[in-house]
Amino acid sequence: MKQIPVIIFGAGGVGAALLRQIVDGRNGVATRNQCRFEVVAVTDSQSCLFAAEGLDDAALLAAVERKRQGMTVAEGVRPSEIEIIDQARQAGWEKGIVVDVTAVDGMEPVLDHALAVGYGVVLANKKALAGPWQTAQKYFNHSHIRHESTVGGGQPVIATLRYLLDVNDPIYQIEGQMSGTLGFICGQMDGGVPFSRAVREAKALGYTEPDPREDLSGKDVMRKVMILARMAGWPLEEANIEVESLYTPELADLSVPDFLDAVAALDETMRLRVATAQMEGMVLRYVAEVENGRGVVGLKPVPAGSALSSLKYISFRTGRYDDEPLLIGGKGAGVEMTAAGVLGDMIDLAREEL
Ligand SMILES: NC(=O)c1ccc[n+]([C@@H]2O[C@H](COP(=O)([O-])OP(=O)(O)OC[C@H]3O[C@@H](n4cnc5c(N)ncnc54)[C@H](OP(=O)(O)O)[C@@H]3O)[C@@H](O)[C@H]2O)c1
Repeated sequence: MKQIPVIIFGAGGVGAALLRQIVDGRNGVATRNQCRFEVVAVTDSQSCLFAAEGLDDAALLAAVERKRQGMTVAEGVRPSEIEIIDQARQAGWEKGIVVDVTAVDGMEPVLDHALAVGYGVVLANKKALAGPWQTAQKYFNHSHIRHESTVGGGQPVIATLRYLLDVNDPIYQIEGQMSGTLGFICGQMDGGVPFSRAVREAKALGYTEPDPREDLSGKDVMRKVMILARMAGWPLEEANIEVESLYTPELADLSVPDFLDAVAALDETMRLRVATAQMEGMVLRYVAEVENGRGVVGLKPVPAGSALSSLKYISFRTGRYDDEPLLIGGKGAGVEMTAAGVLGDMIDLAREEL
């Protein structure tokens, strides 16, 4: 039985769900794949829980509970990410997996160190893949990197694209609704809810980031488009992707409560756009599209009742799936699905590369 040490950076929604899934699935994973994950480190932004021989289930679940209560995962001084990887190596773990389930910029030196010492890397955090092409290029098609959860949560979007590329099926177009939050807001507007109220509801339900502008800016969707485009062979930069922000520049610097009040100024424009679409049998959706090296992210009328009008689908139009695109569907978003995608990547790495 292979023992694979795992270092997890990030203990938020996805990190906590991953820890629970590792604990719950340990025996099944071991039986099916002949490998056992030993979580040697779990970190948040302030602290690190470390055990060279692997943290037991009780310690992992206690860390989840501490985060649920708003505490840090551990007490005491936190070593740097690179020091944590080195501590695992010094403990005798020559190969292992580093998981980035943070949402921060600047993890590249950590990922580079992990890869340089022969560790595998699993990403749910999109930022390293969506940085400038010059630095991000090396992460695409690296044999020791997996990133299924960066697009589509738990749906096998990346695996499908990789398969299409492997069998030389030319990619013409990838299209989908890639934000659960913006999908919710559009769905509410279908039923006549004003934009500003839909934004407030999404925030109250915990669907948005604490500052809803992070979702409304479209930047997270832009990163997903960039990852898909880059995989498909179009090395797009941020400046090459047309992104429609769902708030105007004058609302950018307001406090969150002031923004939530001021965003009502956009209600009438949005109502008109929804009504115009509906008059033509369409609904307004926040659609991400990659075609011929071009990326576009923004509101678009799509036929009511079509696959694209539902949040659940991402479609691939390719040489072989031209007149009838290949659809990936089913529930994708949410921390449990995302964590499952991360766990699947860890198993794949353990089986194939480590
Ligand atoms: N939520 C989803 O459904 C979903 C879907 C697809 C992809 N993703 C991606 O998955 C990632 C995680 O999402 P999430 O919802 O779990 O985010 P989150 O709840 O904000 O959690 C982020 C975690 O990262 C920790 N962190 C920040 N800097 C760190 C560092 N330098 N080292 C170690 N940990 C650090 C934070 O620590 P503190 O607890 O101390 O703040 C927090 O525990 C994001 O990149 C997100 O875009 C999420």
